[in-house]
Amino acid sequence: MAVLSVSSLHAQQGNAARGERSFRACAACHSLERDRNMTGPSLADLWGRKAGTLPSFERFSDPLKSSGLTWDDRTLDQWLTDPQHLVPGNEMPFAGIKDAPARADLLAFLKEATKPGAAPSQSAQQGQMGGMGGMMGGMMGGGADPNLKTLEPGIQVKTISYCRDTYRVTTADGKTRAFWERNLRFRTDTSKEGPEQDAPALLPAGMMGDRAAVIFSAPEEIMKFVERRC
Ligand code: HEC
Repeated sequence: MAVLSVSSLHAQQGNAARGERSFRACAACHSLERDRNMTGPSLADLWGRKAGTLPSFERFSDPLKSSGLTWDDRTLDQWLTDPQHLVPGNEMPFAGIKDAPARADLLAFLKEATKPGAAPSQSAQQGQMGGMGGMMGGMMGGGADPNLKTLEPGIQVKTISYCRDTYRVTTADGKTRAFWERNLRFRTDTSKEGPEQDAPALLPAGMMGDRAAVIFSAPEEIMKFVERRC
């Protein structure tokens, strides 16, 4: 009995260390760094913020913007339990966490880590990227790709030619790889995490080696690089 009541007390208060581990489920989409937006908005300074109002995030859904919610212990607990129940039609692709103690742990961690001036913890930021490196980053569309500023020759793109249904990508090490046109994606990253101008990066996407993405520093670069040539 004594053991039970102690553990339920802990559950209510939340264990931030355990919560930091659960944050890995969020880190592919959310940064704790101010205004660093990925698939989802930065969560820095979350408590007290009105839902869907972070000015630097361009992609809030109408339902979240018009929800009238302000984020606090109670609304965040409801959001994490079942986002679609709290705000029907919102666009966060996350089913929710049904386990109340696990939510309490996560909120205990988030409350500390999102305080103004809190330094984002390295391990939390890396989130689920640990181990799989940039491979998964490319595949999940998350922001945790490898440093794109100083590219190894094997992934720095020099030229891209297009012939019939095939793109041929030549990298700075002189190698050329051919991709079926539907297996090569073109992306941009104009943030400070993105590649240098005219030095796009070729990153694998998926496990089979037949798919990849080229990340450019700006949309204008895409047509500049792709040359029709057989
Ligand atoms: C697959 C990507 C993804 C995952 C995983 C994810 N989110 Fe989100 N999150 C989003 C998107 C996209 C939005 C914006 C939704 C909208 O506008 O309808 C969002 C919105 C939010 C908001 C509202 C922010 C605001 O400024 O109003 C909070 C809080 C939040 N997420 C917390 C979390 C937490 C905590 C987790 C982990 C348990 C998590 N999210 C997991 C993508 C994700």
